[in-house]
Amino acid sequence: MAKHAARGAHQRAAWSSKLGFILAGAASAVGLGNLWRFPTLAAKYGGGTFIFTYFVLAFTFGISLLLLETALGRHTRQSVIGAYSDLRPRWKFLGILSAAVPFIITPYYCIIGGWVVKYLTSYVAEGPASVMADGFFGAFITDPFFTYVFMIIFMLLCIIVVALGVKNGIEKANMVMMPLLLVMAVGISVFVLMQPGALEGAKYYLVPDFSKFSPELVINALGQMFYSLSLAMGIMVTYGSYLDRKESLTTSVASIAGFDLVVSFLAGLMIVPAAFMALGLGEGGTMAAGPSLMFVTLPQVFGGMGGAAQVIGIVFFVLVLFAAATSAISLIEACTSIIQDGTHWSRGASLLACSVFVIAAGCFINAGYNALIWMEPLGPGTQLLDFFDFLSNSVMMPIVALFTCIFVGWVMKPKFIIDEVRVSSKFSLAGLWAIMIKVIAPVLVIAILVANVLPMIFPS
Ligand code: PFF
Repeated sequence: MAKHAARGAHQRAAWSSKLGFILAGAASAVGLGNLWRFPTLAAKYGGGTFIFTYFVLAFTFGISLLLLETALGRHTRQSVIGAYSDLRPRWKFLGILSAAVPFIITPYYCIIGGWVVKYLTSYVAEGPASVMADGFFGAFITDPFFTYVFMIIFMLLCIIVVALGVKNGIEKANMVMMPLLLVMAVGISVFVLMQPGALEGAKYYLVPDFSKFSPELVINALGQMFYSLSLAMGIMVTYGSYLDRKESLTTSVASIAGFDLVVSFLAGLMIVPAAFMALGLGEGGTMAAGPSLMFVTLPQVFGGMGGAAQVIGIVFFVLVLFAAATSAISLIEACTSIIQDGTHWSRGASLLACSVFVIAAGCFINAGYNALIWMEPLGPGTQLLDFFDFLSNSVMMPIVALFTCIFVGWVMKPKFIIDEVRVSSKFSLAGLWAIMIKVIAPVLVIAILVANVLPMIFPS
């Protein structure tokens, strides 16, 4: 292993500080998943009950996996494929499987990033009335020309940041975007809570309704946690590989998870009461899920706020843009690093290859909304984007997480990760952590996998 540490020390990019690493991890974690998936799930599963369950899972299971991945990266100084094959050549398949996940997610994530750019420019150029007009969203996402243009604009923005490098691009961009994102999230939440009727909505969001507690809630909270913390897709392994061995891993991963939780919580605080006011959720209304919550319901809610509508719309979509861009940057960085480690091409050539792939695959998936709309891969009304989202989040990520736990817990044995963590910090919970990785995590992950995949095989 010393061979790789030495090689890595000369060749690999590196964070300039622990803060750079924490912000980058948080920037990857905080994204569309926090802004639309978390509030939707919280509203569906009894508000406080879901929030509580999610927080407990994130701070036990989530943090354990985060620690595992970052320590693995730092130990091997490699992105995923190299990391696994260095340790056990027969486990290279796991590296390949993990590496495939960001290649699947990046193209479709950037399509949604393009929608966000479109909304932001429409709010600025045309004002809130055009955005909240009936059919605006549906007409835009099926547009056979402008969706491609906005997707490519979003991709180029992210590619430029990655091209500037780990220290000069990613770190600097995060230093600006992440604090601003937090300020905007607090600002919008306060503004929304000051609207008439919003406190009722906040109560709905915060007060636990334990009758909604169910295995299904736990499965959904677990799935959300993987996606939100950017786990099981090689990103955190790559990011750990850029971290100096003197920086504490335990405090870093706790800060990353903490940042992610705070933003998810705030997202719920701004979105659930807003949707509550607009839809009267308390009287049995149901909150729109996924994209339509953010792109249809919220513009309508903002539209009802009189003169503030344009400003709040702009601030909100700048926030969403920052969240989406920082996550997409981490995805592109992970793909680039995987290509670079696999081919030994220069970083520039690897980024170019990654960009060509992402743009081509993005165009293909985007065609699922226009030229290829007949495909309906997961049944009537579904698009290619839904298919790739399902494949990455519901199938591949749990499989990768399961094998990762088996590999570290049973094949390599947890001690090598514990030793790596202890290089730079105390790790008094090492025993508990090992039980989590060996036993608890695999059982939970199998439950997610069964719950996600069985309904596909045996539709009810
Ligand atoms: N964690 C991001 C979110 O919550 O939106 C999504 C994401 C980013 C997934 C980076 C995967 C990834 F590699």
